[in-house]
This record gives sequence, C-alpha cells and structure tokens, in this order.
Amino acid sequence: MKVGVLTGGGDCPGLNAVIRAVVRRAVTGHGWTVEGIRHGWRGMLREEIEPLDLGSVSGILPRGGTILGTSRTNPYKEPDGEAVIRRTLEKRGIGALIAIGGEDTLGAAAKLAKAGLPVVGVPKTIDNDVNGTDYTFGFDTALTIATEAIDRLHTTAESHDRVMVVEVMGRHAGWIALESGIAGGADMILIPEFPVRLAEIKDAIERRHERGKNFSIIVVAEGARLADDAGQPLHEQRDKRDEFGHIRLGGVGASLAERIEETTGYETRYSVLGHIQRGGSPTAFDRVLGSRFGVSAVDLVARGGFGRMVAIRGTAIVDVPLAEALGSIKQVGPELYDMARVFFS
Ligand code: F6P
Repeated sequence: MKVGVLTGGGDCPGLNAVIRAVVRRAVTGHGWTVEGIRHGWRGMLREEIEPLDLGSVSGILPRGGTILGTSRTNPYKEPDGEAVIRRTLEKRGIGALIAIGGEDTLGAAAKLAKAGLPVVGVPKTIDNDVNGTDYTFGFDTALTIATEAIDRLHTTAESHDRVMVVEVMGRHAGWIALESGIAGGADMILIPEFPVRLAEIKDAIERRHERGKNFSIIVVAEGARLADDAGQPLHEQRDKRDEFGHIRLGGVGASLAERIEETTGYETRYSVLGHIQRGGSPTAFDRVLGSRFGVSAVDLVARGGFGRMVAIRGTAIVDVPLAEALGSIKQVGPELYDMARVFFS
C-alpha cells in the first residue's frame, strides 16, 4: 500500500517526529511506501507530492517545523475541493492519508472521511486545545519556552520595579498561559476561559507592594478578555482572517499593559512571545509523543480505522472518532484555574 502524510495549520515542534515515525513504521513494519504531501491540503489540491523514504526522514527528529511545509488551506473553500482530493488519491494510487493537524485540519479530515475517503488523523497544536486527547504534541515545547521566558523577565521586572505583562499564544484556550504562569510563578494569569476584572489585577499588584515586592509578572493569553469590558476582547480588531475564518490576533499584551499602568500608576511593560513559542527543537516529551502518534497512526491505517484519530489518554495511546475532537475545543476547567488562583498575589 501507498500511504500519504500531510501537515496542516500552524507549524509545531514534533511534526517531524511524527513524519519520521510514520515513514519508519510504514516502510519497515508494513512494507508500504509513503508519499509526502506538501503544504497541507494545498498539496492534495495542487498535487504537490513527493516520495518519502527512510533517507528522507533521517536526522529530522530534533528539528522544529515540518519538512513537508504547511498551510492553512481549507479544501472546503476551494471549488470541488473534495472531488479534487479524491481524484488525487486515485491518480497517485494513495490508499490512505494521515492528516496531522489541529481542529481545522482534522475538521477537513473528518468531512473527507465521512465522504468515504481513507483518512486518519493525528492531533497537533501548541495550544493543547484538541478534544479527545489529553495532550497534543508541541504543547510541552511551547510551555517550556514560555516558562523560560517568564523566568528571564523576572530579573528585569525586579531590577526596575516594573510590572511585566507576558503575552503568550492561546486563542480560545489558556493552557500555555495557565501552565507557564504556574510554572513561572506569575502573580496573575489571564485566560480566555475566566475573564478577571482590572480591579482584581490592581489588588494583586498592590498586595505585593504591601509585602515589599515592587514588581509583578502578569501572563496573558492572546485571546483573553477582561470581565469589565462587557465581553469586548483586549486584542486589536483586525480584518485579516485565515481560510477557516480565524482572525489574526495580536495586541492583548500592549493594551493590557496600558490599562494596568493607568489603573495602578506603576510602570508596566509588555513582551510578546509570538512565534518563538512554536520555533526550534521539540522537547523530549514532544519527540516521544510525536513518535508514538506516528507509529500508532500507521497501525490505525492497517486496521482500517478511517475517520478516527490517535490520542493519548493517561499514558496509553488509543484511537477515537475524529468527530470526538471536533465541535468544541478543550478548555481549562474551573478546578485548575482555582488552583492557580492560590498563587495570585
Ligand atoms: O493554532 C496555533 C497557533 O499558534 C495559535 O495559538 C495562534 O493563534 C495561531 O496559531 C497563530 O497562527 P499564525 O502562525 O498563522 O499567525
């Protein structure tokens, strides 16, 4: 059999670990060949496809990004997208497709599988917000980078008696902000799930000053909002959207820092981690999870598990219907956020 593999959506540390594992398992475990689809769904629509063998995936395990390239192309926004993909599979003799991506890529995979195409999914995103799996690979690396950044920002905050606002990624879910904030000892964490009032931030900062701590670290997810603003987001209002309808976010750190400085009178600066969180070499955890997902995805194909995706539940790799990952995203629950509140100064 010939199996295709593609990576869609934002790049993410660990993608190459999955690709390598897919090739290794398919070639040496099942005697199959592998076709690499370039730039996500775009490669299926434009037939940008190249063979992958053991040599092509040698040495890629520690590398960030994806050797296949990626895009946010939505096949259901293209004329006859589904039919073109069906034709490409037939023409190239590809018997199964492994789609590695987040909610958008997996959403398209689920629709294609429902239409009878042989597709399985592998959940990916630094945001860790895909339902049906306890973790996505990439999250641990982003968390590690954000935690290190918070550690580094502490020294400047302390030396200058400043409030430092750290903006991290997280459009609808605050996993990176919450966990890096806990790990980095933040004095307040703002996430999309639980808006707080500006007065709570002011109180926390003032309580620290009363205890002789003249600096504070506030971690904010890019999609967070304040409870004061009647649900208005803090990020800039921009028109730019991707093919899945997501607005390009940005500006939450700047606007929050301005609001904090106005309210407290303390000098407040902000730092935006942006794509640095997604760049570079994956952590050992993400390399292992990506490798386990890749091997399991090939075995899922061998069992004919189309319309399903691999997932981790506890410490076990399982497979679940793609539909389970879609519809809603996995958000931070009140129990975890309440635990984090213990450390809000
Ligand atoms: O989905 C992953 C993610 O990193 C989000 O956290 C973020 O909002 C988005 O991608 C940024 O996408 P882009 O790389 O297209 O700016």
